Amino acid sequence: MTTPLLSAEIGKTLLDIVVADITKLEVGAIVNAANRSLLGGGGVDGAIHRAAGPDLLAECEMLGGCETGSAKITRGYRLKARHVIHAVGPVWHGGAADEEALLGSCYRTALDLAVAHRLVSIAYPAISTGIYRFPADLAARIAVGTVASEVASAPRGIERVVFCCFSSDSAEHHKIAFAELGLV
Ligand code: APR
Repeated sequence: MTTPLLSAEIGKTLLDIVVADITKLEVGAIVNAANRSLLGGGGVDGAIHRAAGPDLLAECEMLGGCETGSAKITRGYRLKARHVIHAVGPVWHGGAADEEALLGSCYRTALDLAVAHRLVSIAYPAISTGIYRFPADLAARIAVGTVASEVASAPRGIERVVFCCFSSDSAEHHKIAFAELGLV
């Protein structure tokens, strides 16, 4: 198990920051930073599809795509995670196209899907901060803020949320967000 760089507790829910390859995490669901087609791509989307195997794409092809700000769930196939939650983050266009709300909606919708499938743990990549060019510091504040307020108001059985960063810079942005929210 990847040792968290930082952990915080909100009620009975543990929030962890790790630097890891999300395809290696053994959690109820890993979240994919997908595109609206849900038919794969580069970045973490490509890594998840490679690790899960071709059956993942076959299931995604049945889903009919997904709107920006929303998410859909599939099985995890060859992944250690039982499920993949495919969230479609916003492309950054400067911040005046509702990007912040759409990113928050990805985190919220993914958590709702995990709860609906009675999962107790979920891992997120830093959605939209790669190819979609969302500023990483602002994205981290939205990610942590959205998850923290959701689990604070109603944990609904979620025991662990992992912010799975792919660089120390990304982890630092999430650590700052924890501190700004008074979680640590
Ligand atoms: N594990 C964890 N995080 C990862 C991994 C991995 N194996 N690979 C990449 N990341 C990180 C990136 O470093 C970045 O911080 O995931 C974050 C999101 O980056 P992208 O994968 O580029 O996703 P995004 O910016 O949301 O763009 C989505 O890219 O791959 C395509 O099909 C995808 O069109 C969609 C777009």
